[in-house]
Amino acid sequence: MSDHTKITHLGRGDPSAEGAINPPIQRASTILFDRAEDLYATGPKRHYGTQGMTVHDSLCAVFCELEQANSVILANSGLTACTLPLLAICAAGDHVLLSDNIYGPTRRFCEGHLSRFGVETSYFDPGAADDIETLVKDNTKAIFMESPGSLTMEFTDITAVVEVAKRRKIWTLIDNTWGAAWFLKPLTMGVDFSIQAATKYPCGHSDVLLGTIAAGSKEGSKLLASYNRASGNFTAPDDAWLVLRGLRTMGTRLERQERVALNIAKWLSKRSEVALVLHPALPEHPDHELWKRDFSGSSGLFSLVLHPVEEPKVLAFLNALKIFGLGFSWGGYESLAVHCDPQLVRTAGSWHHTGPLIRLSIGLEDETDLIDDLTRGLAQL
Ligand SMILES: Cc1ncc(COP(=O)(O)O)c(C=O)c1O
Repeated sequence: MSDHTKITHLGRGDPSAEGAINPPIQRASTILFDRAEDLYATGPKRHYGTQGMTVHDSLCAVFCELEQANSVILANSGLTACTLPLLAICAAGDHVLLSDNIYGPTRRFCEGHLSRFGVETSYFDPGAADDIETLVKDNTKAIFMESPGSLTMEFTDITAVVEVAKRRKIWTLIDNTWGAAWFLKPLTMGVDFSIQAATKYPCGHSDVLLGTIAAGSKEGSKLLASYNRASGNFTAPDDAWLVLRGLRTMGTRLERQERVALNIAKWLSKRSEVALVLHPALPEHPDHELWKRDFSGSSGLFSLVLHPVEEPKVLAFLNALKIFGLGFSWGGYESLAVHCDPQLVRTAGSWHHTGPLIRLSIGLEDETDLIDDLTRGLAQL
């Protein structure tokens, strides 16, 4: 079955839907039992609302197939999906190795909070996976990748990291939000946990926060399930329902967003104001070959480096945009733009480009309208 068929057909047909195509939303804390004997019985019957209801099972079933996972856990945001597995894995005295292009709040969580529990964090250059063995310590418990990084579009050689991690018995995690388990299947490459902010492409409508953690093995599933149950993490059924609804059209949206984003990236690469377009499908992208090796396509998110200009000009560029919204997050039906320099943090190396870094998330608007909008913005430079 192709992924297009999977996302339209899987996770349906539970008897509680009574023939309706979509699952019911069951808001539940208490679940009643007919007999007192069953209250403490183990078995398939749910005992309490935190175990999730039909819609949670439906959503997990679709993600499980897309990610080719052993199991999937839902989290109340993409950020929780990043932090929860680290809490499940690490104990005092452990060390985690993060990619230097990791989502900023994940970095802050490790530095500011995992540290309180005696877990040390250090960083690797996302483009230098060949050196990873030199950074691994005896107490390294997890290596967390983000490929590509959602601001700088740097890719990591996942296979090289997995090879070292397996040999050294280290868990590997990847933030797979850009690949969306559509263009990249990290678990099939040996990564232990594939994480997504389903807030982005699966939801697709900028109205829900939700995360997913897909585990590749039984052992990983057990570790996650145990911590998840203990932590009280829970996703509201309405949110799960909305993401399932969004997921049904994700493939179609991504096909269009991929095509339009690449056309706009090509157009931008010919503009005199632009120093470099960071879109992996362009042959001039430094990780073009790595992207071609591992990914089956590209999504609607990419970045560009402008020729050096003062910040007021960058702000004028953004303020002149009428169709692109100015705001964080991405993957929705509406196009967004942000300048990234205020949130660029590097520890393992430095960011080599001197001009301002702009990130675009291409939505579902008409390509010509988007290009006209960017033309209006670039005129400010
Ligand atoms: C790459 C990446 N991972 C994780 C997250 C966190 O997702 P959420 O906004 O659902 O917390 C984001 C959000 O922007 C992101 O860009």
